[in-house]
Amino acid sequence: MRLGWTIAVAACMLVRDPSHAFAQTGKSSAASGGAVPDSSASTLSGVYTDEQASRGKDVYAGTCRSCHTPASHTGATFNKWWRGKHLSDLFLFVSTRMPKNDPGTLAPEDVADVMAYLLKMNAMPVGKEELPPDADALKKIRIETKRSTAPSTGSTAKRKKP
Ligand code: HEC
Repeated sequence: MRLGWTIAVAACMLVRDPSHAFAQTGKSSAASGGAVPDSSASTLSGVYTDEQASRGKDVYAGTCRSCHTPASHTGATFNKWWRGKHLSDLFLFVSTRMPKNDPGTLAPEDVADVMAYLLKMNAMPVGKEELPPDADALKKIRIETKRSTAPSTGSTAKRKKP
């Protein structure tokens, strides 16, 4: 007896595995609700991770330290160059102008990592998400520095004369 073998080769092996798409739980710690921090994000709001900064440290040691010292990216120099600008400016600068002897050779990810390290050098707070290697996204993050570096202690110290 012949059994009609209906070989239904249903090519149903469409494996749709979004293993990359980490569903971002839109949990914002802002209990006040509403305010989307996107447009007002700054380097003081925690925009890189510690891990990213330590990767950046390796990039820096390998490609930048021949010309720079960390001190050249902090304090007054950092303020002068970057304060009030956006991280996209720093990203584009490093992407296109650094390393000075071989500009344009860094992968965008390395630039983002090295930026995280620069932020860390400047004592910026760490956050939960890494800096994206993407100028458009970085355009939303303003570079702000802590006031504490400026000697803005109003000289209204009362001198008590005993
Ligand atoms: C061959 C030497 C050289 C190398 C390597 C180099 N730079 Fe520079 N960098 C310079 C010079 C010189 C300047 C001053 C501005 C200019 O001439 O463009 C500068 C300026 C900068 C500035 C702005 C001013 C400051 O000090 O903050 C940043 C940020 C910077 N470099 C980051 C980097 C990073 C990140 C790397 C590694 C990926 C790197 N540089 C590698 C020579 C170098």
